[in-house]
Amino acid sequence: MILLDGKALAATIHKELKVSVQQLHERGIEPHIALLLVGDNPASLSYVRSKSRACEQVGIRSTVLQVSADTSREDVLDIVRQWNDDPAVHGILVQLPLPPHIAAEEIIEAIDPRKDVDGFHPVNVGRLVLGLPTLVPCTPAGIVELLRRYDLSVHGKHVVVVGRSTIVGKPVANLLIQKARWADAVVTICHSAADDLFRYTRSADVLIVAVGRAEMITGEHVREGVIVIDVGINRIDDPSTPKGYRIVGDVEFASVAPKASAITPVPGGVGPMTIAMLLHNTITAAEGTAWQKPLFP
Ligand code: GUN
Repeated sequence: MILLDGKALAATIHKELKVSVQQLHERGIEPHIALLLVGDNPASLSYVRSKSRACEQVGIRSTVLQVSADTSREDVLDIVRQWNDDPAVHGILVQLPLPPHIAAEEIIEAIDPRKDVDGFHPVNVGRLVLGLPTLVPCTPAGIVELLRRYDLSVHGKHVVVVGRSTIVGKPVANLLIQKARWADAVVTICHSAADDLFRYTRSADVLIVAVGRAEMITGEHVREGVIVIDVGINRIDDPSTPKGYRIVGDVEFASVAPKASAITPVPGGVGPMTIAMLLHNTITAAEGTAWQKPLFP
C-alpha cells in the first residue's frame, strides 16, 4: 500500500514555484494574492491563515482582509471590485462559505475571471468543461497533480467521485474526463440521492470522496486494490487531545487502507496539494497566462 504523501509533494512543488516567483521578481512583478474572509468561522480562519503563510513562504505577497459577518453584500462587492481594479493584485480569493445573507454566486461572478485563483467564476468553469486553458479549481488540480506525480494513471480507469460540489466533485470529474494523457478516465459522480452507493463505490478503480461527512466510506464500500483520494477535513470531538478535537477524512482510514493499493492520509494528503495549486494559480495569474497555459501539458 502506497501512502500518498501530499505534504511532502507540496513541499517539492513549493520549491519549484519559488523559482517561478524569482523569475517574476526579475521582471519587476511581485505576485500578490488578496484573500477575503467574511466572519470568523474558526475553520475558515485557519484555512485562510494557512494559504497566506504558504504564499509568503514562496515569495508571493498576500493581503488578508477579515471583515465582520454582518458586512453588507454591497460592501463585499466593493472590496472585490477594488481588487479587480488594482493592477498590483493578481489573485483574488473569497473564502467560502459566506454568511447566509450573501449569495456566493454573485460575489464570485464579480471577481475578474483572470484573477479568479479559485477557478470558481462561471467563465472559468465553462473553460474547464470545454478543455480550454483556465485557472483550475485548486483541490481538483491538486488531486490530478498528486496522481500524476505518483505515476498513477487514470487512463481508461473507472473513477468514482462521491460528492457533487462545485468546489470539488463537479470540477474533478470534468478534469478527469478530458481527452489527455493524465486524464481520459471513465467517471461516475455519486451523490446523496444515490439509492445504492455500494454499487458504485465497489466498482471504482479510483475513489475520490468529497462529501464532508466524517469516515462515511468504510472498508465495506471498496474493492481490493482501489486507489483512494480522501478530500474530507472533518473536526470530531476528542477530549484526549490538547485541542479537544481531531481531524478525520470522509474515509475510515483503518478499514479502507488495508484494501487500498494507494490512499491519501488526512491530514497530509489532499489539503497541502490544494494550497500548492493555489500558489501555482496565483503565479499563473501574475504571469498573465491564465488563459494560455494548456490544461494538461
Ligand atoms: N472553502 C472550502 N474550500 C474552499 C476553496 O477551495 N476556496 C474557497 N474560496 N473557499 C473554500
